[in-house]
Amino acid sequence: MLVAPSILSADFGNLARDVEAICEGGCDLVHVDVMDGHFVPNLTIGPVVVEAVAKAASKPLDIHLMVENNSFFVDLFAPLKPGYISFHIEEEKHPHRLIQKIRSLGIKPAITLNPHTPPEAIEFLLEDVDMVLLMSVNPGFGGQKFISSVIKKVKHLKKLINERNPKCLIEVDGGVTDENVKLLEEAGVDIVVAGSFVYKHPNGISHAIAALK
Ligand code: DX5
Ligand code: ZN
Repeated sequence: MLVAPSILSADFGNLARDVEAICEGGCDLVHVDVMDGHFVPNLTIGPVVVEAVAKAASKPLDIHLMVENNSFFVDLFAPLKPGYISFHIEEEKHPHRLIQKIRSLGIKPAITLNPHTPPEAIEFLLEDVDMVLLMSVNPGFGGQKFISSVIKKVKHLKKLINERNPKCLIEVDGGVTDENVKLLEEAGVDIVVAGSFVYKHPNGISHAIAALK
């Protein structure tokens, strides 16, 4: 299992230290939650802070946009050369065009689905993306309870992916712990995002990452 710790649970007063800690602790990607106060009822960080994250990170950034006006935010973050940029299908009128734009900037495109959105909503986009991110909480905040119906959804999505683009990865985000990671792996998940489990683990960050792997 690949692990992408969410820096939303980091200490923002010591952000570089906390980004270095997950990279040295064995993470695969650095998950960056960008919220605009419109698409979700929370506001996080923009390109100035994410640039500092990129400088401290020795692993690729996995930027999760939770915003209106995705294309504008892609332009803001593209110069930082993230590994992935994902956008919510619920907030995009022209997803195919946006996917092409992200790829043309040398970034792997990914689509995110809220808990209620069926995998069929993106069936005809699967050939064009490198990853699908399934939310297992309502986007906006760290530390929420895992919505277990995502397990069924992963299995369903995996079937569509096998038909349309077997190389496409499945990532799950929200409420992931060592108690549900095994079920996620069995269902077909490739990458888990974990914020509070990684940053607030009593035995430390590298222990938490190892437990998820
Ligand atoms: C929620 C974010 C998540 C969040 C995960 O909107 O997308 O990445 O930080 O945090 P935990 O693992 O605490 O649920
Ligand atoms: Zn996220």
